[in-house]
Amino acid sequence: MKPPVAQLAYLSFGVSKLDDWERFAVEVLGLQISERFDDGFDLRLDSHQRRFRIRQSSADDLQLIGWQAADSDSFNALQKRLEKSGAQPQLASESLRQERGVERLLLFHDPAGIACELALGHQSAAEDFESTQVPGGFVGEELGLGHLVVTSRDQAKSEAFYQETLGFGFSDRIACEIYGFDVNLAFFHTNKRHHSLAVGGRLEKNIHHFLLEAQNMDEVGRAYDRCIKARLPIMNTLGRHPNDQMFSFYAMTPSGFQFEFGWGGRIIEPATHRPDAFDRISDWGHHPPIVLAPRRKS
Ligand SMILES: [Fe+2]
Repeated sequence: MKPPVAQLAYLSFGVSKLDDWERFAVEVLGLQISERFDDGFDLRLDSHQRRFRIRQSSADDLQLIGWQAADSDSFNALQKRLEKSGAQPQLASESLRQERGVERLLLFHDPAGIACELALGHQSAAEDFESTQVPGGFVGEELGLGHLVVTSRDQAKSEAFYQETLGFGFSDRIACEIYGFDVNLAFFHTNKRHHSLAVGGRLEKNIHHFLLEAQNMDEVGRAYDRCIKARLPIMNTLGRHPNDQMFSFYAMTPSGFQFEFGWGGRIIEPATHRPDAFDRISDWGHHPPIVLAPRRKS
């Protein structure tokens, strides 16, 4: 049976520094502004009209996750499952549904209190995607916009919600200690992308990072160069993860949460995928800045 959620459709970020975000999104990440509003702008990375909603806010955090239902039967089934789970889903107002450009729209919260939307359909952009910085473009379309790692208040509750209520497939788990921190990450897929979501324990913000995946490896190196030139803090050097095999680096957004810029993420077959467990975050690389700092003489 195919997962009832087809893909990660859009994310909303509430940001305090709108001008910084525009420069960052367009000139560093290579995204394209699809529409401007009084309080922000929408961004695209493929044929979808909006993959990111960036809006003025003091939150500097993820404010909304948008999931796209596989079809109308899946939408109905998910609505029933959300009602049964106690999540109290609400159908969106007509004006909000139109604003999102979708056929149907359901609003709910995940167990950590993060606002989520389930959309049926999506709005396509009138013109082809064109990036000034990433000419080869991004891996998107039916694989969704990328992935994100979110907070949980109760890890078991969040994992059960995404797996049992929303019907995500369990990809694998990474549990280890790294630089004195205990890490326990559960990874979930909704399509052939190895994961669209990971639940990462109690975090300071709703989000730890979101990922953009370029079509070409050299785009990762070029994005790394752009971060250094823009003096964005690099949070993890180039490296490769053992589970999704993403070749990537991490840096800081202007809102104090991170992004991952990668290439070569693993494609899985959801029907036959067998979950695994890993005792390391990375096969190589992904070192934090503390490792790069000169050692002090004692
Ligand atoms: Fe990631």
